[in-house]
Amino acid sequence: MAIETLTRPCLRQVTPYLPGKPIGEVRRELGLRKKVYKLASNENPLGAAPRAVRELRRCAAESYFYPEGASPLLRDALAKHLGVTSSQVIIGNGSDEIIRLLCEAFLSPDDEVVVSQYGFIRFRQQALLMGAKVIEIPMTDWTHDLKTMARAVSARTKLMFIASPNNPTGTYNTREELKELLESVPSTVVVGLDEAYFHFAAADDDYPNSVREFLPKYSNLAILRTFSKAYGLAGLRVGYAAADSELIGWLDRIRMPFNVSLPAQRAAAEALKDSAFVRRSVALVKKNRNQLAQGLRDRDFRVIDSAANFLFVESPGTGWDIFSRLLGFGVIVRPLDEYGLTRHLRISVGTSQAQNALFDGLEKALARP
Ligand SMILES: Cc1ncc(COP(=O)(O)O)c(C=O)c1O
Repeated sequence: MAIETLTRPCLRQVTPYLPGKPIGEVRRELGLRKKVYKLASNENPLGAAPRAVRELRRCAAESYFYPEGASPLLRDALAKHLGVTSSQVIIGNGSDEIIRLLCEAFLSPDDEVVVSQYGFIRFRQQALLMGAKVIEIPMTDWTHDLKTMARAVSARTKLMFIASPNNPTGTYNTREELKELLESVPSTVVVGLDEAYFHFAAADDDYPNSVREFLPKYSNLAILRTFSKAYGLAGLRVGYAAADSELIGWLDRIRMPFNVSLPAQRAAAEALKDSAFVRRSVALVKKNRNQLAQGLRDRDFRVIDSAANFLFVESPGTGWDIFSRLLGFGVIVRPLDEYGLTRHLRISVGTSQAQNALFDGLEKALARP
């Protein structure tokens, strides 16, 4: 008997997430001894927050202990940082785990989830795993169309996901757009507002401080953030949500008992104090993002304005072809076929050295027939 027939039927429509191609894999496949640059997973070009690295060294020998299950020190530190109570915060194994917890907590088979067509693909994948029906609303100018998303809410809708700034398009929704959405969506629909790239957009005038401005008013809102981007800790897997304490209580009930490792909890708490590192990261991203955009425009790519640490671009060839050719020159970018976007690429902002390697690679790749 085929094992497939034993699986839950909803699993069969789920395609696994395709992560950015790892550097080690490229070296193994191509036998490259030269440097490989990864501009495929929106990692921090400055590396990890130094305070976090020092803490990792300090606590390495304590790894024989189980961690405290609910990450209390990090939770308290974050609550203070955000100006909320600890009961309004949950720590996840990456914000990816929080996406999963929201789906597991609220979705039964045939419930509806409203997402945007090119919104972060994990929303869709996770909702499908629960047997839910995904309602995909087209974008306007590569941006979530919140008015139409609000209108798509039906009696069956339990969840809505918004990423702002969004991955892969890099666009965000303004304070006014979000306010209007939160006002119009009934409180029976949980709104997951994913702000993984918060720090890169936070200085823009019309980008809201959602924790301060929205959280006190909307008990159906969960704001998701991560230590993977501005703090440079993607490999540790730490993310979090801030929401009404009752909502957090339900997520807390179903998370894995020791979902965040001891070193990860400790390092993230130290990273939170490293505001100088975050400032440097954001400044570097903004500077290099302009250089990256210009260099790509000069090479016939159409670049969409981005508020995040990556660019969403339409390429002169198919995305997959450019991705494959660049691999040969030791540069990894991200094709977007899983979104059905065959002419687009997502390219992370990198160090000047990595971006120059990309430009060199493109010169050679585009010159070849
Ligand atoms: C919009 C968005 N949300 C969530 C995540 C997951 O981040 P993590 O699980 O590393 O916190 C990512 C990762 O790239 C992302 O782009």
